[in-house]
Amino acid sequence: MTENVNHIGLKVGSQNTVAALRENGTDEIKTRAIKTCVKYSSKTFKNLGTRPPTIGDEAVKYADAVWPLSFGIIKSDEGIQQTIDILKTLEIPTGADIVLASPAMEMTDGKDRLSRAVKQAAEFDRMWVFSEGVCSVVEITCKPDIVRDSTFFSVNLGSSTTELCCSAEGVVKHLSAHSDMSGNRVDHDILNRVRKSVGEEITIQKAREMKENASLGKVRTFQVQPLTEEGYRDFEVSAEVTDPLHEYVLSIVNIIQKELYRNVDPIMRETALEQPMFISGGMANIDRLPESIAQVLSEKMHREIKVAHSGDKKSHMAPAIGALMLCEAGIFE
Ligand SMILES: Nc1ncnc2c1ncn2[C@@H]1O[C@H](COP(=O)(O)OP(=O)(O)OP(=O)(O)O)[C@@H](O)[C@H]1O
Ligand SMILES: [Mg+2]
Repeated sequence: MTENVNHIGLKVGSQNTVAALRENGTDEIKTRAIKTCVKYSSKTFKNLGTRPPTIGDEAVKYADAVWPLSFGIIKSDEGIQQTIDILKTLEIPTGADIVLASPAMEMTDGKDRLSRAVKQAAEFDRMWVFSEGVCSVVEITCKPDIVRDSTFFSVNLGSSTTELCCSAEGVVKHLSAHSDMSGNRVDHDILNRVRKSVGEEITIQKAREMKENASLGKVRTFQVQPLTEEGYRDFEVSAEVTDPLHEYVLSIVNIIQKELYRNVDPIMRETALEQPMFISGGMANIDRLPESIAQVLSEKMHREIKVAHSGDKKSHMAPAIGALMLCEAGIFE
């Protein structure tokens, strides 16, 4: 497929990979998203060679599928080809300029592998890298210039990391990544809570699905059907899902508070807090979760903290869409 695409925004996360582009010169931004997961067949078939890998949502169903990224970066050299295979299924048009939304992790080897995978998949090496937190703010505000003109604080709530970024007039002054609290951790907490109250096992996929459909605003119940000795049985759960989410909110608030007061220059902090705090990453899709963070943060800091985030459950797409906007605006040049 040949497409007339000159700019691409890309985010390759531990769990979700998203490309943003305008197809064939249309005004509308389109996104192509996939789970960052691949399953290779162990068998080779006569006349067919090796079976093509299973990628994304289909691959997630296999226990032995590979997730080549960890903490937002490619863990090992063999992860480079795995990531290329995943990116190829997004049919990224070749030869376009790319802005890659990069995680805050310090590991330069892992980031370097990620850049190599993206360049190879896109068959082009005009690529610029911006922090995910910065890209997300561009999507939320629809203002690429904000990167150059403003001081802001951005929080990215991912699957394996929680990342904070403070940017002042075009310079990222503070960047940190925390792996002690993340979307994955909540999945495991839900799984453990269900095991404790129901006495049976559910899958991690089921725990994640309930988490993604939960609300911190209204009570929702979920049916779980663990396999018991007598066969599948129905149970109803609710607090087993929302309690770990409330604990998550508290931990995120603690992380934000600590970073703001220990590691960010006080003048910069006050300037950044004149704006809403920008919240992105898949966990911000959960109903009323960003608002809960604002509420708890306001109570703890004894001042009103406002938050801004993407609508329509697009928070996991925000870094890619913002990266596309930066690419089109040529902010890096
Ligand atoms: N509607 C949703 N869509 C996608 N992810 C969601 C949604 N609701 C909640 N989440 C959660 O958000 C997390 C994924 O967020 P995101 O895509 O930003 O992470 P990532 O970039 O892949 O991971 P990391 O930043 O740790 O490398 C997962 O824990 C996922 O369960
Ligand atoms: Mg991420």
